[in-house]
Amino acid sequence: MSDDMFGEAATTWDDNPERVRMAEEFSREVEKLFAFTPETVAMDFGCGTGLIGLRLAPRVKKLYMVDSSQAMLAVLRSKLDSENIANVVVSSAPLGKAVEKTSLDLVFSSMALHHVDDLPKLFTDMHAVMKPGAALIIGELLAEDGSFHGDKAVPHHGFVPEELAALMEERGFEVLHHHAHGMVNKPGPDGGLRQFGKFVLKACTR
Ligand SMILES: C[S@@+](CC[C@H](N)C(=O)[O-])C[C@H]1O[C@@H](n2cnc3c(N)ncnc32)[C@H](O)[C@@H]1O
Repeated sequence: MSDDMFGEAATTWDDNPERVRMAEEFSREVEKLFAFTPETVAMDFGCGTGLIGLRLAPRVKKLYMVDSSQAMLAVLRSKLDSENIANVVVSSAPLGKAVEKTSLDLVFSSMALHHVDDLPKLFTDMHAVMKPGAALIIGELLAEDGSFHGDKAVPHHGFVPEELAALMEERGFEVLHHHAHGMVNKPGPDGGLRQFGKFVLKACTR
C-alpha cells in the first residue's frame, strides 16, 4: 500500500463516524482480552491517526504508535501536542528500528494487516520486538470480494482467520482464539450501505 491513499484521507479520517465507532469497539475488545498493568509496554501497529491508540494510552506505561503514512502520523502528532500526552512514541520506521527487541507486552492492530504485502516478514518482525508470552490482538476484515476498497488495490481482501492463524503459527505465535466481531458499514457504488464482517484474533508469542 502506498502512502498516497492515506495521504489524501488523513486530514478527514476522523470525520467518519463509522471509523470512530469501530475504533471504540476494538479498543473495548482489547481491554477485555488483555490484563493491563501500570508496567505494560504496548504497540499500536498501523495506528493511523490514533483513534485506538489514544484511547488505550492511559492504560499503559509506554505506547509505540507505528504507521508507514506520514500524513496519518502528522494528524496523530498534532493530537499528541494538543492533548499533552507524554507516554507515546510515534514512528514510521521499520519495526526493528522503531521498537527495542523483546520489549513489548502487547501489540494491537486494527484494519492495518490487509494493507501489508509481506505478512510473513511482518509477523517475524513483530515477534522479535515482543517479550516471550506477549499478546497480539488483531482486528481485521473477514475475507471479502474486493469491493471494500472499491477501485483501490490492496494486498489482501480480508482474511480467512484460520489461514491467518496458520501463517502466524509458522512465525512463532500461538493463536489462542478468534471470533467474529461486528460489521463495518460502508456505502457501495449504488449509494446503498454494504456490510462487511470483521473478526478479532488473539495470539501470544511462543
Ligand atoms: C485502515 S487504516 C487503520 C488505522 C487505524 N488502525 C484505525 O483503525 O483507525 C490502516 C493503517 O495502516 C497503515 N499501514 C499500512 N501498511 C503499513 C505498514 N506496512 N506498516 C505500518 N503501517 C501500515 C496505514 O498507513 C494506515 O494508517
